[in-house]
Amino acid sequence: MKIEINPMEKASLVTEVIRNRRTIFADAFTSEEVSQELIEQVLTDAIWAPTHKRTEPWRFVVLKGNHPEKMGEYMAEFYKDYILEKRYNSLKQYCKNATLIAIIMHRDERERIPEWEELAAVSCAVQNLWLSCTTHGLGGYWETCEAAMEYTKQFTQAGERSMGIFMLGHYDAVTTKAVSRRRPLEEKLHWDFGDELTD
Ligand SMILES: Cc1cc2nc3c(=O)[nH]c(=O)nc-3n(C[C@H](O)[C@H](O)[C@H](O)COP(=O)(O)O)c2cc1C
Repeated sequence: MKIEINPMEKASLVTEVIRNRRTIFADAFTSEEVSQELIEQVLTDAIWAPTHKRTEPWRFVVLKGNHPEKMGEYMAEFYKDYILEKRYNSLKQYCKNATLIAIIMHRDERERIPEWEELAAVSCAVQNLWLSCTTHGLGGYWETCEAAMEYTKQFTQAGERSMGIFMLGHYDAVTTKAVSRRRPLEEKLHWDFGDELTD
Protein backbone atom coordinates (compact mmCIF):
# COMPACT_ATOMS: atom_id res chain seq x y z
CA MET A 1 0.00 0.00 0.00
CA LYS A 2 1.37 3.40 -0.96
CA ILE A 3 0.77 6.03 1.72
CA GLU A 4 0.44 9.58 0.42
CA ILE A 5 2.31 12.12 2.52
CA ASN A 6 3.18 15.65 1.58
CA PRO A 7 6.83 16.47 0.68
CA MET A 8 7.50 18.48 3.87
CA GLU A 9 6.26 15.65 6.07
CA LYS A 10 8.30 13.16 4.06
CA ALA A 11 11.48 15.21 4.50
CA SER A 12 11.03 15.55 8.23
CA LEU A 13 10.21 11.84 8.59
CA VAL A 14 13.43 10.90 6.81
CA THR A 15 15.41 13.33 8.98
CA GLU A 16 13.80 11.89 12.10
CA VAL A 17 14.65 8.31 11.14
CA ILE A 18 18.25 9.23 10.24
CA ARG A 19 18.85 11.14 13.46
CA ASN A 20 17.10 8.64 15.72
CA ARG A 21 18.88 5.58 14.36
CA ARG A 22 21.04 4.30 17.21
CA THR A 23 23.47 1.54 17.92
CA ILE A 24 21.58 -0.98 20.05
CA PHE A 25 23.84 -3.71 21.35
CA ALA A 26 22.91 -7.39 21.24
CA ASP A 27 22.59 -7.83 25.00
CA ALA A 28 19.55 -5.51 24.88
CA PHE A 29 17.62 -7.83 22.57
CA THR A 30 14.63 -9.74 23.89
CA SER A 31 13.98 -13.41 23.11
CA GLU A 32 11.19 -12.45 20.71
CA GLU A 33 12.16 -13.90 17.36
CA VAL A 34 12.51 -11.62 14.35
CA SER A 35 10.29 -13.13 11.67
CA GLN A 36 11.65 -14.21 8.32
CA GLU A 37 9.28 -11.72 6.70
CA LEU A 38 10.75 -8.84 8.70
CA ILE A 39 14.33 -9.96 7.99
CA GLU A 40 13.52 -10.04 4.28
CA GLN A 41 11.84 -6.64 4.50
CA VAL A 42 14.85 -4.89 6.04
CA LEU A 43 17.24 -6.65 3.64
CA THR A 44 15.08 -5.62 0.69
CA ASP A 45 15.48 -2.03 1.88
CA ALA A 46 19.22 -2.69 2.13
CA ILE A 47 19.58 -3.72 -1.50
CA TRP A 48 18.07 -0.47 -2.74
CA ALA A 49 21.39 1.18 -1.96
CA PRO A 50 23.20 2.85 -4.85
CA THR A 51 25.95 0.97 -6.68
CA HIS A 52 28.36 2.11 -9.36
CA LYS A 53 27.68 0.23 -12.62
CA ARG A 54 24.94 -1.57 -10.73
CA THR A 55 27.31 -4.27 -9.56
CA GLU A 56 25.14 -4.84 -6.45
CA PRO A 57 28.20 -6.18 -4.63
CA TRP A 58 26.51 -7.51 -1.50
CA ARG A 59 25.63 -10.89 -0.17
CA PHE A 60 23.98 -11.59 3.15
CA VAL A 61 23.97 -14.79 5.15
CA VAL A 62 21.43 -15.01 7.96
CA LEU A 63 23.04 -17.12 10.66
CA LYS A 64 20.27 -19.16 12.23
CA GLY A 65 20.18 -22.27 14.46
CA ASN A 66 22.91 -22.34 17.08
CA HIS A 67 25.00 -19.61 15.42
CA PRO A 68 24.15 -16.91 18.03
CA GLU A 69 25.37 -19.18 20.86
CA LYS A 70 28.38 -20.31 18.82
CA MET A 71 29.23 -16.71 17.96
CA GLY A 72 29.14 -15.71 21.65
CA GLU A 73 31.39 -18.61 22.58
CA TYR A 74 33.71 -17.80 19.70
CA MET A 75 34.03 -14.17 20.81
CA ALA A 76 34.63 -15.17 24.43
CA GLU A 77 37.37 -17.63 23.41
CA PHE A 78 38.86 -15.14 20.95
CA TYR A 79 39.36 -12.49 23.66
CA LYS A 80 39.90 -14.89 26.57
CA ASP A 81 43.47 -13.77 27.27
CA TYR A 82 42.48 -10.10 27.47
CA ILE A 83 39.30 -10.21 29.58
CA LEU A 84 38.27 -11.12 33.10
CA GLU A 85 36.21 -14.23 33.86
CA LYS A 86 33.05 -12.17 34.40
CA ARG A 87 33.35 -10.61 30.95
CA TYR A 88 34.21 -14.02 29.45
CA ASN A 89 30.98 -15.49 30.83
CA SER A 90 28.82 -12.55 29.74
CA LEU A 91 30.36 -12.56 26.27
CA LYS A 92 29.36 -16.19 25.84
CA GLN A 93 25.73 -15.13 26.31
CA TYR A 94 26.10 -11.78 24.60
CA CYS A 95 24.29 -12.36 21.31
CA LYS A 96 22.09 -15.32 22.17
CA ASN A 97 18.92 -13.37 21.24
CA ALA A 98 20.37 -11.72 18.16
CA THR A 99 19.60 -12.33 14.53
CA LEU A 100 23.03 -12.37 12.96
CA ILE A 101 23.50 -11.30 9.38
CA ALA A 102 26.92 -11.81 7.84
CA ILE A 103 27.73 -8.88 5.57
CA ILE A 104 29.73 -9.95 2.56
CA MET A 105 31.21 -7.90 -0.26
CA HIS A 106 31.03 -9.83 -3.52
CA ARG A 107 33.43 -8.26 -5.97
CA ASP A 108 32.25 -7.67 -9.50
CA GLU A 109 33.72 -10.57 -11.53
CA ARG A 110 34.99 -8.19 -14.22
CA GLU A 111 36.43 -5.83 -11.62
CA ARG A 112 35.06 -2.87 -13.55
CA ILE A 113 35.28 -0.55 -10.58
CA PRO A 114 37.81 -0.20 -7.73
CA GLU A 115 37.28 -2.39 -4.70
CA TRP A 116 36.79 0.61 -2.42
CA GLU A 117 33.67 1.53 -4.38
CA GLU A 118 32.24 -1.94 -3.81
CA LEU A 119 33.00 -1.65 -0.08
CA ALA A 120 31.37 1.79 -0.07
CA ALA A 121 28.26 0.41 -1.79
CA VAL A 122 27.93 -2.39 0.77
CA SER A 123 28.29 0.23 3.51
CA CYS A 124 25.42 2.17 1.92
CA ALA A 125 23.37 -1.05 2.02
CA VAL A 126 24.20 -1.51 5.71
CA GLN A 127 23.03 2.03 6.44
CA ASN A 128 19.76 1.28 4.63
CA LEU A 129 19.40 -1.89 6.66
CA TRP A 130 20.08 0.00 9.88
CA LEU A 131 17.57 2.75 9.05
CA SER A 132 14.99 0.17 8.07
CA CYS A 133 15.48 -1.58 11.41
CA THR A 134 14.85 1.76 13.11
CA THR A 135 11.58 2.28 11.27
CA HIS A 136 10.47 -1.25 12.21
CA GLY A 137 11.31 -0.77 15.89
CA LEU A 138 14.20 -3.22 15.72
CA GLY A 139 17.51 -2.57 17.42
CA GLY A 140 20.78 -3.35 15.76
CA TYR A 141 24.35 -2.50 15.02
CA TRP A 142 27.29 -3.39 12.83
CA GLU A 143 29.83 -5.61 14.60
CA THR A 144 33.27 -5.54 13.01
CA CYS A 145 35.49 -6.77 15.83
CA GLU A 146 38.27 -9.14 14.80
CA ALA A 147 36.34 -12.14 16.12
CA ALA A 148 33.30 -11.30 13.97
CA MET A 149 35.49 -10.77 10.93
CA GLU A 150 37.12 -14.17 11.48
CA TYR A 151 33.89 -16.01 12.26
CA THR A 152 32.24 -14.86 9.04
CA LYS A 153 35.14 -15.89 6.80
CA GLN A 154 33.63 -19.39 6.67
CA PHE A 155 30.77 -17.96 4.56
CA THR A 156 32.90 -16.19 1.98
CA GLN A 157 33.90 -17.54 -1.39
CA ALA A 158 36.59 -16.52 -3.87
CA GLY A 159 36.36 -12.81 -4.71
CA GLU A 160 34.45 -12.02 -1.53
CA ARG A 161 35.33 -10.20 1.67
CA SER A 162 33.73 -10.44 5.06
CA MET A 163 32.50 -7.09 6.34
CA GLY A 164 31.47 -8.36 9.73
CA ILE A 165 28.05 -9.02 11.19
CA PHE A 166 24.92 -6.93 11.51
CA MET A 167 23.20 -7.94 14.74
CA LEU A 168 19.52 -7.14 15.09
CA GLY A 169 16.65 -7.93 17.38
CA HIS A 170 13.59 -6.72 19.20
CA TYR A 171 14.29 -4.57 22.25
CA ASP A 172 12.55 -2.43 24.81
CA ALA A 173 12.96 1.14 23.63
CA VAL A 174 11.81 2.54 26.98
CA THR A 175 14.38 0.78 29.16
CA THR A 176 17.29 0.62 26.72
CA LYS A 177 19.63 3.57 27.05
CA ALA A 178 20.98 4.59 23.66
CA VAL A 179 22.55 7.99 23.39
CA SER A 180 24.95 9.35 20.85
CA ARG A 181 26.34 12.70 19.85
CA ARG A 182 27.97 14.39 16.90
CA ARG A 183 30.45 17.19 16.54
CA PRO A 184 28.93 20.36 15.07
CA LEU A 185 28.75 20.47 11.29
CA GLU A 186 30.89 23.63 11.23
CA GLU A 187 33.91 21.52 12.27
CA LYS A 188 33.52 19.27 9.25
CA LEU A 189 32.24 21.63 6.60
CA HIS A 190 34.17 24.03 4.46
CA TRP A 191 32.97 25.90 1.41
CA ASP A 192 35.35 26.34 -1.50
CA PHE A 193 34.54 28.76 -4.28
CA GLY A 194 37.43 27.95 -6.61
CA ASP A 195 38.58 30.97 -8.57
CA GLU A 196 35.43 32.96 -7.92
CA LEU A 197 36.30 36.40 -6.59
CA THR A 198 34.91 37.30 -3.20
CA ASP A 199 35.09 40.70 -1.51
C1 LIG B 1 31.80 0.43 9.73
C2 LIG B 1 31.31 0.42 11.15
C3 LIG B 1 31.78 -0.55 12.01
C4 LIG B 1 31.36 -0.60 13.34
N1 LIG B 1 31.85 -1.58 14.17
C5 LIG B 1 31.49 -1.60 15.46
C6 LIG B 1 32.01 -2.59 16.34
O1 LIG B 1 32.76 -3.49 15.94
N2 LIG B 1 31.63 -2.55 17.64
C7 LIG B 1 30.79 -1.59 18.12
O2 LIG B 1 30.51 -1.58 19.31
N3 LIG B 1 30.24 -0.67 17.30
C8 LIG B 1 30.58 -0.65 15.99
N4 LIG B 1 30.03 0.29 15.14
C9 LIG B 1 28.98 1.19 15.65
C10 LIG B 1 29.58 2.46 16.23
O3 LIG B 1 30.20 2.17 17.44
C11 LIG B 1 28.43 3.47 16.43
O4 LIG B 1 27.85 3.75 15.19
C12 LIG B 1 28.93 4.76 17.07
O5 LIG B 1 29.31 4.52 18.36
C13 LIG B 1 27.88 5.86 17.06
O6 LIG B 1 26.71 5.46 17.74
P1 LIG B 1 25.30 5.54 17.01
O7 LIG B 1 25.34 4.49 15.90
O8 LIG B 1 24.26 5.22 18.04
O9 LIG B 1 25.14 6.92 16.46
C14 LIG B 1 30.43 0.35 13.82
C15 LIG B 1 29.94 1.33 12.92
C16 LIG B 1 30.38 1.36 11.62
C17 LIG B 1 29.85 2.43 10.69
